[in-house]
Amino acid sequence: MSRTAVLEQLARRVPLIGPSMLKCDFGNLHREIELLESAGVPLLHLDIMDGHFVPNLSYGPMVIRRLREMTDLPFDAHLMISEPERYLDEYLDAGCDCITFHIEAVPDAGPLLRRIRDADAVAGLALNPKTPVQQIEPLIADCDLMLVMSVEPGFGGQKFIPASIEKISRLKQSLGQNQFLSIDGGIGPATIADAAEAGANLFVAGSSIFDTADYGHAIRQLTELAASRMVSSSLPS
Ligand code: DX5
Ligand code: ZN
Repeated sequence: MSRTAVLEQLARRVPLIGPSMLKCDFGNLHREIELLESAGVPLLHLDIMDGHFVPNLSYGPMVIRRLREMTDLPFDAHLMISEPERYLDEYLDAGCDCITFHIEAVPDAGPLLRRIRDADAVAGLALNPKTPVQQIEPLIADCDLMLVMSVEPGFGGQKFIPASIEKISRLKQSLGQNQFLSIDGGIGPATIADAAEAGANLFVAGSSIFDTADYGHAIRQLTELAASRMVSSSLPS
């Protein structure tokens, strides 16, 4: 799918719940995707970790290529890796539609954001809890998606960091048309509404979906809570 088509498709589905494919059952990916598709998710959030940028390892392009054969859902790849510029093409070739890398992982994020867009993919930039929001402000025009980490990246199931809400509120003020503001880490029924009210429109959720017996119920509940408090100007179109 082209970048524009992905952006339009996602904009129609706001508030977006992105299941984090870190907490899923890796022994049965086919089944997990079937369950998520039946639950009506708008995208899959793929957490990629290299054991260097973050102290954990997950999976890479080979696994994503197999996932791509199983579903047409947009893939939102969250690269928690060092030297993302070195591996970008492999993730694009594997079928990722959105590529988000960390501002802390590169000396200058601008050229890589533009490379992602030039490849007709959705360009995303993430920032860690300790990174001030001011660092990404000069780059907002080059981003289709901004991802605020509300836990230290590396592991699912951590406690939400409340200071992330202020970051979302501040970024929301500069959010242009067709831009997504994502929050990732510790998102569940107790935290999603505040994030929505602050201006997030894409909510990554791991434990609050995969630790439940009924993904459909969990996703519906999260979507409803987000929609109930989302400000209308968070609609990215
Ligand atoms: C953390 C990842 C998240 C994480 C979310 O480094 O980026 O996507 O898996 O999991 P929960 O929702 O359990 O915090
Ligand atoms: Zn993530």
